[in-house]
Amino acid sequence: MGKTIIVSNRLPVKIIQENDKYSYTPSEGGLATGLGSIYQEGDNLWIGWPGLEVTDPAQQKEVIDELKPLRLLPVFLDQEEIKEYYEGFSNEILWPIFHYYASIFTTYQQSNWDFYQQVNNKFKEAVLSVAEPGDTIWIHDYQLLLLPGMIRAEQADLTIGFFLHIPFPSYEMFRLIPWRTELLEGMAGADLVGFHTYDDVQHFLNAATRILPVNSHSNIISINDRQIVAEAFPLGIDNQKFAGLTKTPEVQEQIDLLKENFKDYKVILSVDRLDYSKGILQRLQAIELLLELHPEYIGKIVIYMIVVPSRDTVPQYKKLRDEIDKRVGNINSLYRTMDWTPILYFYRSFAVETISALYSMAHIGLVTPMRDGMNLVSKEYVASRVQNNGVLILSEMAGASKELLDAIIVNPNNIGDITRAIVKALSMPESEQKHRMAQMRELVSKFNVYHWVKIYMEKLKEVKQMQMTMKSRHVDQQVADKIKIRYDEAKKRILFLDYDGTLVGFQTNINQASPDEKLYQLIESLTADEKNEVVLISGRDHQKLDEWFGHTNVHMISEHGAWQKSKNQQWKSIRGLNDLWKADILPILHTYVDRTPGSFIEEKSFSLVWHYRKAQKGLGELRANELINNLVYLTKDRGLQLLPGNKVIEIKNIEVNKGKAALSRLYLEDYDFVFAVGDDHTDEDIFKSLPEAAYTVKVGSTVSTARFYVRNPEEVRSFLTKLSGSTK
Ligand code: UDP
Ligand code: G6P
Repeated sequence: MGKTIIVSNRLPVKIIQENDKYSYTPSEGGLATGLGSIYQEGDNLWIGWPGLEVTDPAQQKEVIDELKPLRLLPVFLDQEEIKEYYEGFSNEILWPIFHYYASIFTTYQQSNWDFYQQVNNKFKEAVLSVAEPGDTIWIHDYQLLLLPGMIRAEQADLTIGFFLHIPFPSYEMFRLIPWRTELLEGMAGADLVGFHTYDDVQHFLNAATRILPVNSHSNIISINDRQIVAEAFPLGIDNQKFAGLTKTPEVQEQIDLLKENFKDYKVILSVDRLDYSKGILQRLQAIELLLELHPEYIGKIVIYMIVVPSRDTVPQYKKLRDEIDKRVGNINSLYRTMDWTPILYFYRSFAVETISALYSMAHIGLVTPMRDGMNLVSKEYVASRVQNNGVLILSEMAGASKELLDAIIVNPNNIGDITRAIVKALSMPESEQKHRMAQMRELVSKFNVYHWVKIYMEKLKEVKQMQMTMKSRHVDQQVADKIKIRYDEAKKRILFLDYDGTLVGFQTNINQASPDEKLYQLIESLTADEKNEVVLISGRDHQKLDEWFGHTNVHMISEHGAWQKSKNQQWKSIRGLNDLWKADILPILHTYVDRTPGSFIEEKSFSLVWHYRKAQKGLGELRANELINNLVYLTKDRGLQLLPGNKVIEIKNIEVNKGKAALSRLYLEDYDFVFAVGDDHTDEDIFKSLPEAAYTVKVGSTVSTARFYVRNPEEVRSFLTKLSGSTK
């Protein structure tokens, strides 16, 4: 077992320089606090920026040496890198877009991008300087989106995980970024891409499949020949640490002091990094509205508001800080009395003991971000409520709201909603508080940060395993050589060849996918060998197949088996099939064609096909699902089968399938080499029906019952050419 190397922009500690001496304090933010509890196991290591510019090599060495025993490896950034990569690209481009703050003022500066690449590359060098075969690299967050791809390019076999701690935006937002393709390619270098919520996963899959030339099958994406997985792993906290803290003498003392100070008030607590995504101004508006509409609370409540300094060199953050100062000042000056101030505002960070004491004594936790990947403050508040009382008000835009369902959930854009939630929380009976809090505490306890690491790592291993299995199934040179030996030894062979997507690539116009000269030559050389029976087995209509291959020496099975033609004989259809059902189904298909531009109907003798390859991406899939739902009972009643294929839905008689058709040929003679190749859902029937010893080959590296796979029709052709060629 190798070690795990955690990589994030920021280390869990940052350097503070006082006079000429360095000291270290914990870093702020969910990533550092969330992972802080777990990285020091075994030989593990954390690579990141220590948060301060250190240029002098001697001083850098000093920092490296001091951090070494903590298992931290610093990556030093110079002023320009901090400005362009950290403040610029990460926090003025990616952060706003990923939090749905696209603005007409966003400038996509080329120099930001250049430095983003440069610094990701710097991190790559740091990782490669310590990574050994068998290690797991776990990369975190939006500052390092390119890193998985960069490491993969140099160390193809390393296990690389990536986790995004902020939301992945909808495709419509993501596509705005000029470097969207490169960013996705970077992320796709990982084996497992983790997000906080299911929605993030869907947004990522959507963006990846629209922007990159990749295929996806549920949450597995096939990129070139590698399968990667995208999945949701909601980040948890070290709940026991927070519950335990409340019982330490130091925290108890602070709790007592706070309780004494605020004994006449209900305390509403908010803790955020300075960030526009946290909805701090909107929250202040809600408080102002509360005092205006409910004067009965004047002198009865206190809002304890902690804003932790963050990124204040970025202009938007500086501006936000000024705004908060102003707003708090306004509210306080309007409502303050001789002995009461409504908002106690702190712009600084606090030791975790103080935060714990506040979590523990505050009656209400008010967490109302406009967008938040997860939001750990809400979970920390819950974990600290060891008496099970207190009320959490939580924004529906925070990832945590998908789990903490017993909070009072609010829309942070709706100021009235937040105000009403505060009123509700202030008047919530203790029994209800306990009921809700107990449920949330149970969840926070079960899905804690250790559980998070465990399930992420297990999945990462599983993905690696899947990749290995897949790799062994690829028909590479070695596998091809082995099959060729068996082919040459065989006395009687049968080869089932699907047509579309297998012998030729897909075309938007189905009639354009006609055979070319090279294909005819290949068929010619396969059929010239008298040991071979070559069967073209296709969903195409028999007229078309006949037009294309009638003059060759192949057997043909068309329309998934409804028609068959042995070489030199006539076409025959399966007896007893009827097509009367078409009269019921056709009108329904027409309504789909009318509503889905680019789609059309293909009519075959015993089946109907609705094609949507040319329809708008997304709409086609949506309509296809709709159509399936619509037809499911109708088809069952009439003995029909609904067959979803590659951008098509086919409706056909249930007795007809490629598997049955293939078997009917197989029994005609005693074959000692059975081969089948196909790319589609419908070809799975052939793979399943053939004997275990058959060489079944799927085109495309997606899930299949076939024993082997090739990547594309070109590989099919070169493999068949190899088979048909002489070994001498
Ligand atoms: N926090 C901190 N210093 C403080 C106050 C809070 O480090 O003075 C921590 C807090 O305990 C929480 C983290 O900062 O663990 C904030 O994480 P969250 O996920 O809520 O927001 P993020 O900062 O990641 O956007
Ligand atoms: C969020 C981000 C982290 C980041 C933290 C603090 O939690 O997801 O990646 O480290 O904020 O921000 P900072 O810019 O100070 O590192």
